[in-house]
Amino acid sequence: MPPIRISPSLLACDFARLAQEIRRAEDAGADWLHVDVMDGHFVPNLTIGPPVVEAIHRVARRPLDVHLMITDPVRYTPDFARAGSHVLSFHFEVTGPERTAAAIAAIRAAGVPKVGIAINPDQPVEPLGPFLGELDLVLVMSVFAGFGGQKFIPDVLAKVRWLRAQDYAGDVQMDGGINAKTLPACVEAGANVLVSGSALFGAPDFAAELQLYRELARAAGGVLA
Ligand code: DX5
Ligand code: ZN
Repeated sequence: MPPIRISPSLLACDFARLAQEIRRAEDAGADWLHVDVMDGHFVPNLTIGPPVVEAIHRVARRPLDVHLMITDPVRYTPDFARAGSHVLSFHFEVTGPERTAAAIAAIRAAGVPKVGIAINPDQPVEPLGPFLGELDLVLVMSVFAGFGGQKFIPDVLAKVRWLRAQDYAGDVQMDGGINAKTLPACVEAGANVLVSGSALFGAPDFAAELQLYRELARAAGGVLA
């Protein structure tokens, strides 16, 4: 399993103070910064686009983990690549098996270091099997994409176990409802990239909470970087 990475979701930060919030997450020890892009079509919510990702990239010292919740990831891939994405993940629900290889190729061609694919809680993981060799990251959503602050869905852990049972050695990311209570089961199942928004940004002490996540991850069998 690749090293544990904690990726705070900026969706839960104070957008009026974006640069300071990024610094707060980084000073607390964030490994990556998770950026949620929503288009109001694939999900019923609108967030940010390439100019804001570019602005985040200018002040960020950690890699940007960009989660595209949009219906046309290929169309916008060059923009998000230029904006400084380190990981660019799209949803399998929008490409289907037919257009997945093309989406992966478009992200690679744009020069993004890591290509990721995401699946919602109601989607089976097995159809990803043929693509695993081409993917740097699989994002197993533990809530339905669209909003922060939802409750963790434990049923999805079986998908993480399935990925590791296929000897998938890339990053397995989980996103949604992750906090000190739900994180250990994620790592036990085989996840190594943990996204957390409201629980981290809402903690009384961000750094202490993030450090607690690391300790819990190690105790659950994760390898610290
Ligand atoms: C949900 C987003 C998540 C969200 C996580 O659509 O993909 O990244 O911000 O937030 P919490 O940790 O509050 O569930
Ligand atoms: Zn996300």
